[in-house]
Amino acid sequence: MASRSPHTRIPLVGGNWKMNTTRAAGLELSRAIAAAARANPAAEVAIYPPFPYLAAIAELAAGAFRVGGQDCSAETSGAFTGQTSAGMLIDTSCSSVLIGHSERRHGLGETDAILTRKLARAIEAGLMPVLCVGETLAERESNRAHDVIDAQLRGSLAGHPEASLANLVIAYEPVWAIGTGRTATPDDAAEAHRTVRQTLADLYSARFAERTRVIYGGSVNAKNAADLFSHEEIDGGLVGGASLNAADFATIIAAAAARCQA
Ligand code: PGA
Repeated sequence: MASRSPHTRIPLVGGNWKMNTTRAAGLELSRAIAAAARANPAAEVAIYPPFPYLAAIAELAAGAFRVGGQDCSAETSGAFTGQTSAGMLIDTSCSSVLIGHSERRHGLGETDAILTRKLARAIEAGLMPVLCVGETLAERESNRAHDVIDAQLRGSLAGHPEASLANLVIAYEPVWAIGTGRTATPDDAAEAHRTVRQTLADLYSARFAERTRVIYGGSVNAKNAADLFSHEEIDGGLVGGASLNAADFATIIAAAAARCQA
């Protein structure tokens, strides 16, 4: 499928802090990220801090970057100890949420059946959902990456009409590249992103597939970001480790913004 010019999809850089930082360190990092985001208005920046710090960071961000949850409940409210609803994220000035990060799919056993319900709650609340998909090393080595990505998308998007998915972002994150220092080559990532768009076109429409942002995650760093983002299929990145370093993350944001000037 022919790709539209990258200029038509606003690049997105997400910083997934996972279970890292303290409140003080998170606020300090956020100040530097706000400055980097303001200096690079061509890129959109979203930060996913630990839940207890969301409110303070959202206040500090003051719109310079999006703040989002690393997860939300598949339920709306009630007796679900330890869970956080999509509505609570909105109430805490969040505007985005990660759905189905591999550390939840593989680490906590979250299935597509659960994720499709989480996605529904995120959409109802008005959050920008970032749906994560990606194959394991064994799946890649047995040439099943394409099928796994396709099946995860079909499973997680089941029951969601195109009209409800205007803000959807897909993060392609090969499990073997997350936190390992091993990055997919830009060509491998771009091929996976084409798979994502083929599935979206098949499920919905070519127009929807071309319009939807697909970002890459898995050991994105200050050195490889420009190379990855220069590929027209790669609309930005979901960054773990390197999002905890202000200077490195600023370089990654600038690399995404530079895509618009390319
Ligand atoms: P990483 O994490 O950049 O540390 O590999 C990416 C992610 O888990 O989103």
